[in-house]
Amino acid sequence: MHCIRKLTDELYYIGASDRKLALFEAAYPLSNGVSYNSYLLKAGKNVLFDTADKSVSGQFLENLEAGLDGGKLDYIIVHHMEPDHGALLAEVKRRYPDAVIVASAKAIAMIERFFGAALTEGALAVKEGETLDLGGHVLKFIMAPMVHWPEVMVSYDETAGILFSADAFGTFGALSGNIFMDETDFERRYLDETRRYYTNIVGKYGPSTAALLKKAAALDIKMICPLHGPVWRQDFDRIIDRYAKWAAYEPEDKAVMIACASVYGDTQNAADILAARLAEKGVKDIVMYDVSVTHPSVIVSEAFRCSHLVFAATTYNAGVFVTMETVLHDIAAHGLQNRDVAFIENGSWAPMSGKLMPQMLEKLKNIRVISDPVTVASAVKEDSAEALEALADAIVGTM
Ligand code: FEO
Repeated sequence: MHCIRKLTDELYYIGASDRKLALFEAAYPLSNGVSYNSYLLKAGKNVLFDTADKSVSGQFLENLEAGLDGGKLDYIIVHHMEPDHGALLAEVKRRYPDAVIVASAKAIAMIERFFGAALTEGALAVKEGETLDLGGHVLKFIMAPMVHWPEVMVSYDETAGILFSADAFGTFGALSGNIFMDETDFERRYLDETRRYYTNIVGKYGPSTAALLKKAAALDIKMICPLHGPVWRQDFDRIIDRYAKWAAYEPEDKAVMIACASVYGDTQNAADILAARLAEKGVKDIVMYDVSVTHPSVIVSEAFRCSHLVFAATTYNAGVFVTMETVLHDIAAHGLQNRDVAFIENGSWAPMSGKLMPQMLEKLKNIRVISDPVTVASAVKEDSAEALEALADAIVGTM
């Protein structure tokens, strides 16, 4: 049975959620699934905005059929060709062969790579600022390359003030009936996953996101329809202000994250001592993660949120302990900037991680190393405890 939601008198949500998926993009753990959003506009012409992932094909195709209610599908707007949204394009075209695909030229080339050239016969390639008059509504197309792939565009329904924003403003997490963000508690239910989604999936492309935000600022937006997660129809600043910070690599909070890799507990002890000294000096809301337990996507997300980052790791195979190496590589790959950082190393005979960890971040812009690394020789003793106290002072001094 179909499960469509009416968003306006003319716009329908026809997407679906997958709660069984364990890893999004085979990389990012999901605790409550993900939604693959698709929209159907019935205003003069019938227009489909993106398809969905293969995993929800049954529900999506049933929703599309119910939404059309025997009507013709005139256009398929393809904002993004990643298969979580484009996988069902060939099946939709098979069912509705007269529907005209509308996409950027790069997306049309990608459709051909995924499905063969026959699928794009009669497709309409659109450029920045071009419009499509549907009779009832006018759609304007806005290119958004690298938010998250190069072919991405968003579209703006000039008549209704609705921005179809592709991956932008999306989140991990299945939809649970409440289709609008104002029907849920954004900060409690979705903020952390919205941040984890943005920072890990799109975070590397901050300037591209900033360019899209600039274009969006010129629009009179009444509703934002992303490709994942709830639809926004009010309080846009709650998401747009955060996007502006994330895209500029500015910390969202003045806060300390301590990320720790400890084999037998002594490096963890050093991290705990630092956290205790920080707390005694008045630092609030310190967060600490064991990177061997917490997924790197959480650490990346928290690194985008916090202003001060401390990495504590043992030396391993004359390098950095493997799980910390993964985390630092991930942070570097996402191009984080503008952070104050510090390091704690441990080594029982030849400590190296204090030298190597900063090297993994040295290509990032505006990363300020607060002080020399604290060295722990096997276990914390008086000298290293004093060094941790001095590090706490140095961190507080920069906050
Ligand atoms: Fe949700 Fe980049 O695809």
